[in-house]
Amino acid sequence: MKLEFNEVGFIFDLDGVIVDTAILHYKAWRRLANSLGFDFSEAQNEELKGVGRMDSLDRILAWGGISMTQEEKIQAADRKNAWYGELITHLGPEDALPGAINFLEQSADIGIGIALGSASKNAMPVLNSLGITDFFDAIIDGHSITKNKPDPEVFLKGASGLNLTPSLCAVFEDATVGIEAARSAGMTAIGIGSEENLPEANKVYSSLAEANMDTILELITLNHI
Ligand code: G6P
Ligand code: MG
Repeated sequence: MKLEFNEVGFIFDLDGVIVDTAILHYKAWRRLANSLGFDFSEAQNEELKGVGRMDSLDRILAWGGISMTQEEKIQAADRKNAWYGELITHLGPEDALPGAINFLEQSADIGIGIALGSASKNAMPVLNSLGITDFFDAIIDGHSITKNKPDPEVFLKGASGLNLTPSLCAVFEDATVGIEAARSAGMTAIGIGSEENLPEANKVYSSLAEANMDTILELITLNHI
């Protein structure tokens, strides 16, 4: 049986799907690393996509060969977050990734349930700066979860916020851990990026500007049966 658009839900990751904040996270983490006397590359930063704040810090400290007490780690993460928080105050609708706002508008117009599923504790200010908060029927962010991706918690909470069974939802993700989380939640996983980086996705688009509503609905239908 073919599903209708108003029976399904879309759950969006934020960083790297709707807005390009990876460069801002990189700037802030790099400033922290530099203050500790080392540096790391943009290629290394790729490994931090979708990874929670404290886990990111652990990886960065390992690159610098630095060990810290738990107390020092919390202080370091707070410093990074204060710098990141300053950077995101300058974000505006023009910083949305190609096609993102249009895709949200289109989804809302045809009655698709829309949720956010992000690991970030800064998701609310980012959504507000972009002026897109009202598109979301449910917002699950770093404050709402106890386990990071690849655990499916963030997306399962998104589906329940939309009152939908997981198999009726598609997740839009740019990170490998996010695709893994979507698959283990029993959802259709739409990768935003390259097929090479996201081989486990059910379908990959280079951006939301390329995403096709009918194709995604067919994929959800196939997954739901
Ligand atoms: C997203 C980003 C990660 C970031 C994480 C936590 O998943 O892709 O780079 O570390 O959110 O973000 P936060 O804003 O809470 O530090
Ligand atoms: Mg992401």
